[in-house]
Amino acid sequence: MSSSQSMENGPRNAAHQQSQSNGAQSRVPTDEEVALMEKTKVTTSLLEYIDRFKLPYMNDVSCYEKLLKIGQGTFGEVFKARCKKTGRMVALKKILMENEKEGFPITALREVKMLQQLKHQHITELIEICSSKSGNPQKERATFYLVFTFCEHDLAGLLSNKKVQLTMTHCKTLMKHLLSGLHQIHHSSILHRDMKAANVLITRDGVLKLADFGLARPIFKQRNHLYTNRVVTLWYRPPELLLGEREYGPAIDIWGAGCIMAELWTRAPILQGDTEQKQLQLISQLCGSIVPEVWPEVDKLPLFRQMELPQNLNRIVTTRLGSIIKDSNAVNLIDRLLTLNPAKRGSAEEALDHTFFFTTPEPKEDVRDLMAGIHQSLFEYTQGRGAHAGRGRGGGQPHNGPVRAPNPPRQNNLANTGYHDMVF
Ligand SMILES: Nc1ncnc2c1ncn2[C@@H]1O[C@H](COP(=O)(O)OP(=O)(O)OP(=O)(O)O)[C@@H](O)[C@H]1O
Ligand SMILES: [Mg+2]
Repeated sequence: MSSSQSMENGPRNAAHQQSQSNGAQSRVPTDEEVALMEKTKVTTSLLEYIDRFKLPYMNDVSCYEKLLKIGQGTFGEVFKARCKKTGRMVALKKILMENEKEGFPITALREVKMLQQLKHQHITELIEICSSKSGNPQKERATFYLVFTFCEHDLAGLLSNKKVQLTMTHCKTLMKHLLSGLHQIHHSSILHRDMKAANVLITRDGVLKLADFGLARPIFKQRNHLYTNRVVTLWYRPPELLLGEREYGPAIDIWGAGCIMAELWTRAPILQGDTEQKQLQLISQLCGSIVPEVWPEVDKLPLFRQMELPQNLNRIVTTRLGSIIKDSNAVNLIDRLLTLNPAKRGSAEEALDHTFFFTTPEPKEDVRDLMAGIHQSLFEYTQGRGAHAGRGRGGGQPHNGPVRAPNPPRQNNLANTGYHDMVF
């Protein structure tokens, strides 16, 4: 350890402890500190300054009472908890530390950074970060938790409950919230990269919040920035990622928004492929063949020739979804959001301008009336549905690089999870 590191971790802590018990009075430096001062020319007045300096304070997680496990994420578990002091309900997202030799994992750090930038009505609110001391004094490793304002439901859990009936007003209001949140994310030069119903939360007051910034990344201004294409849960993954595109942009999240919008009516993910190949086939069966005539330059994408792409299929989005959704504007907007060519898919801002939001019944401020009739929290995990169903409790994917998907249930799990292999 270098002497400058020792100054960070040794004397500063000792000094801090002393200042807590004695107030901020000056004191005689210890022998160790004197030796270090000799070495690094740290003056007594600097030490006194450090003594008086208030270090940022991190609460211990024991100030929250854990009530229930509500999520098994890829990067850790999520618990509903109550603040012992204020009674406030929170969600504690445990940061998986298994692969970290020391320190705070970079993935969690990224998530915190994004959330700090993204304060918005339709984005989940990070309250603080908490820690808990490791039980093993030899290891001295702490566990960290991200503490969020608690949201009563996630959309996947909500949609899997048949008793929850959504009206056209509810669907419009939820989509308006979702697109406003997404616009804010893109406007802040961030890509979400994991749009799916389980990452859409709804508060008791009927306000939608976009959650889970574990895979989010800044949008790089310079062209030719290469991202990984192995992001976004398979069922919500857009065709350009499945074809190996690495210079993608906000359009990848818009595709996810289209899948989620359709799901408000179908009540289950509309494209449930179990491999990347199958996912492309399902997309082609709904959106038509993926060919340069509808998507110029698609043939230049890295996997275009490696993947089997069905030919001569017509686009049937409006007819298929039109039989379920009795509102032509809604169908038209989904059709726009599920445009094969990412360059033509449009932005969240453009989607918010769609006639759908300006025709009767108009969207409301919130879906409070819907929430009033639901007396139990509904989450993907507790409902045993979705990409985490059938994984077994605590069987989350290990955190190794940015790959979160694919993680769909196997075909023979579908019956148990309430999912049907639907092709819309
Ligand atoms: N603020 C919150 N209020 C209520 N529930 C929450 C909250 N945050 C997360 N959850 C629940 O926990 C689940 C997992 O959380 P999150 O998506 O942030 O974790 P993750 O590890 O990144 O997940 P995944 O791998 O499932 O995408 C969510 O789908 C949701 O059901
Ligand atoms: Mg998630």
